Amino acid sequence: MGLKIKGTCLVAFVAVLGYLYRDTFDPESLANVRVLVTGASTGIGEEIAYHYARAGAQIVLTARRENILIKVRSKCLELGAKSVSLVVADMGVPEDREKVMEKTITDLGGLDYLVLNHIGYTPFQMWDGDVNHTRWLMEVNFLSYIHLAAKALPYLTKSHGSVIVLSSLAGKIATPYTTSYGATKFALDGFFGSLRHELAMKRIPVSITLCILGLINTQSAMEKVKDKIAMPAYPAHDAALAVVSAGTSRIEEMYYPWYVRPLCFIRDWFPQSRAWFMQKSYQYKAEETSTPS
Ligand SMILES: NC(=O)c1ccc[n+]([C@@H]2O[C@H](COP(=O)([O-])OP(=O)(O)OC[C@H]3O[C@@H](n4cnc5c(N)ncnc54)[C@H](OP(=O)(O)O)[C@@H]3O)[C@@H](O)[C@H]2O)c1
Repeated sequence: MGLKIKGTCLVAFVAVLGYLYRDTFDPESLANVRVLVTGASTGIGEEIAYHYARAGAQIVLTARRENILIKVRSKCLELGAKSVSLVVADMGVPEDREKVMEKTITDLGGLDYLVLNHIGYTPFQMWDGDVNHTRWLMEVNFLSYIHLAAKALPYLTKSHGSVIVLSSLAGKIATPYTTSYGATKFALDGFFGSLRHELAMKRIPVSITLCILGLINTQSAMEKVKDKIAMPAYPAHDAALAVVSAGTSRIEEMYYPWYVRPLCFIRDWFPQSRAWFMQKSYQYKAEETSTPS
């Protein structure tokens, strides 16, 4: 093949990729949409709320700390949200989840976007054998997501709406110090991946967007990883925009930042060198390990 033809093929290939991965996000399409954001008091959830607010959405915010939610609501209103309601709720408590959905539907009259973002606190450390903690974390990070999704589905079906699920690189690739957390995120991938098929087979017009994030500079994440891994953390504001944009475009899986997609792509390549490299990237002192009781 001549050099000219090869060059033309390469340009065409890049153009097709550019077209396929073009940014189709239009914030104006979010004016007046009805959104529930969980874990909206801090971090990425708070930033997600601000992006919807700028677009003029009607928002319900939920988390446990009312005093912080009140501040987030004020900022959302300043930024242009059409309306903002609060529900104080603990996602480890099934009755609280019911309360969140009831208030959402009463206040918004329906739902277009369910953004599942909250996580319960878990230390970034080697597993200490605490099965009760893992069970509780499953309740907060996994079961509450599917509980809310089950309650929201009839309304999302009516509105041709979307479920946006926040996940992590630790929910695609097993990493040290994330045993229970990673398990909850892998579970979300399995559950929502299967549900996506079933919705398509039943021709139910609800999209599911799984957001796979690398390290993001939220206060809680930075506190956990300090002195344990050295890798760049990306801004919560940009991560949240990528989440909102992917949900609006009804993308099935979104990766942020740039390195997450290639890492997931090569996940099963060279397993031994990958394990060696990963274990060397985490700082470990022998005294950190405690014996399971
Ligand atoms: N930051 C990262 O590096 C990173 C990386 C990959 C994926 N992610 C994912 O991104 C999402 C947000 O992470 P983040 O770093 O922004 O978290 P974060 O700053 O720790 O925020 C967690 C949110 O969840 C709420 N929350 C905690 N426990 C709760 C409970 N029992 N019931 C109800 N709400 C509860 C917190 O508010 P209250 O305390 O007021 O309840 C807070 O609003 C998570 O799904 C996380 O897995 C984050």
